[in-house]
Amino acid sequence: MGRMSTGAPKSPVGRVGVVHGRTPLLARLNAWRKRSPLSPYWLDWKFLRGAIEKLAPSARGVMLDVGCSERPYGELFAPYVTRYVGLDYPPALLDKQPELWKILDRAKRSVDVFGDGRRLPFADASFETVLSTEVLEHVLSPRAVVEEMARVLKPGGRLLVTVPFMQPLHEIPSDFYRYTPFALRRMVEETGLVVEVIEPRGNFAASLGALGSQYLLRSFGASERQSDGSVIPSRWKSLIVFPAAAFLQTAFYLLSKVTTDDAVALGYSIVARKPEAPGGGRATLSA
Ligand SMILES: C[S@@+](CC[C@H](N)C(=O)[O-])C[C@H]1O[C@@H](n2cnc3c(N)ncnc32)[C@H](O)[C@@H]1O
Repeated sequence: MGRMSTGAPKSPVGRVGVVHGRTPLLARLNAWRKRSPLSPYWLDWKFLRGAIEKLAPSARGVMLDVGCSERPYGELFAPYVTRYVGLDYPPALLDKQPELWKILDRAKRSVDVFGDGRRLPFADASFETVLSTEVLEHVLSPRAVVEEMARVLKPGGRLLVTVPFMQPLHEIPSDFYRYTPFALRRMVEETGLVVEVIEPRGNFAASLGALGSQYLLRSFGASERQSDGSVIPSRWKSLIVFPAAAFLQTAFYLLSKVTTDDAVALGYSIVARKPEAPGGGRATLSA
């Protein structure tokens, strides 16, 4: 099988006339701003991306991404996998009507298979790697998803997961859980996988900076609160709030580098391996 190309296949979106509202230069400037401390989500994004960058070298072979959305981290995995299969849940996308057609057009670029993580439409032992980033908080029965991900893994294959811990409510009303590392470890071990790494992303200082800047945006810089929990920044308030968020995030980012308390973290990552021998490595529960 050939190596995966960077990013998703070319989309037919342009041909069906979706109007792109910005010139490429403005779009590029906006993309740069979103990846700089001027975005109130910068610190959150930076630590999540850093955590996924660390997971990527554990991926190999054919990889399934459960809850792939727009595959925001596709290029990080490209050097390590032979094929990237993206699966997402259609009802969650359909919820976003009346944006439905745009969403479906966008999904064509990133979603290979529509399906439910609780009943994956694949045979046992189909994938060398299963990835799932920031999905388990959105599923009412996360344990079923973890069991399914373990089932479709080949023996010796790896499960790579990130979950949030200190995060505002998002994608309301489909936001059900936050995970401690102990709950995450237990849920994964109970499926028979062997946990190799479990790590916090960011620490106390990083969480304060990320939450503080989102607080600034939500309380002083927003023009509208949307039903899914997100806010629309006000253009004129942003002139003050974005630089304030940049200052706060930079200060707490530097603090996160010189302090080590991780009793609060932005989230956790886990790497777990499916044992080679069937049934081997299954954890014995103490409670
Ligand atoms: C917060 S987004 C994360 C998207 C992406 N993995 C990322 O890291 O940016 C959660 C995603 O999980 C998907 N999802 C929710 N429930 C699901 C389920 N039961 N099966 C598969 N995907 C699901 C949603 O449609 C959504 O795309």
